[in-house]
Amino acid sequence: MSTLQGKIALVTGASRGIGQGIAVSLAKAGADVALADISLDVLEETKKLVESEGVKVKAYQVNVTEYETVSTLVKAVAADFGTLDIAVNNAGVLGIHKVIDMTPDQWDRIFDVNAKGVFLCSKAELEVMLPNKSGRIINVSQF
Ligand SMILES: NC(=O)c1ccc[n+]([C@@H]2O[C@H](COP(=O)([O-])OP(=O)(O)OC[C@H]3O[C@@H](n4cnc5c(N)ncnc54)[C@H](O)[C@@H]3O)[C@@H](O)[C@H]2O)c1
Repeated sequence: MSTLQGKIALVTGASRGIGQGIAVSLAKAGADVALADISLDVLEETKKLVESEGVKVKAYQVNVTEYETVSTLVKAVAADFGTLDIAVNNAGVLGIHKVIDMTPDQWDRIFDVNAKGVFLCSKAELEVMLPNKSGRIINVSQF
């Protein structure tokens, strides 16, 4: 039996890069995977890759900077899959700029997605995990 058989995982920013790799790895380990990103269209490739591992997969739209969409996402995942065991808060924007070159708007955007996004996702996920007294949250970010 695979290590994560029967577990339900959520990965944000799952359309490409690190998030796509994590989603496929979770599926290879046997977990059912909920994929979330800024639009549904961008999740098609990851959805096919996860599906091909023979686990349940569903794609969701979310903007991690808006608590309402994050809360709706987490509730929908728990309802569709029955629970939430593993959450990987990976959605982010790359913010490698020299201070001298960065505009205040770029700074705000990086913190909105990479810091506030991780907080909002963790908060919504804890609302499901704490009553269950079970769950794992993995935050992937950079500042
Ligand atoms: N690649 C690196 O070298 C590196 C280094 C350190 C940390 N990280 C962190 O790892 C994570 C993934 O990095 P990556 O290189 O795969 O990045 P990427 O840009 O390839 O992927 C980021 C994903 O997040 C999604 N996303 C962005 N804003 C969003 C929002 N508001 N709501 C929902 N989804 C949103 C994008 O659509 C994309 O699918 C990020 O949090 C990044 O900050 C990456």
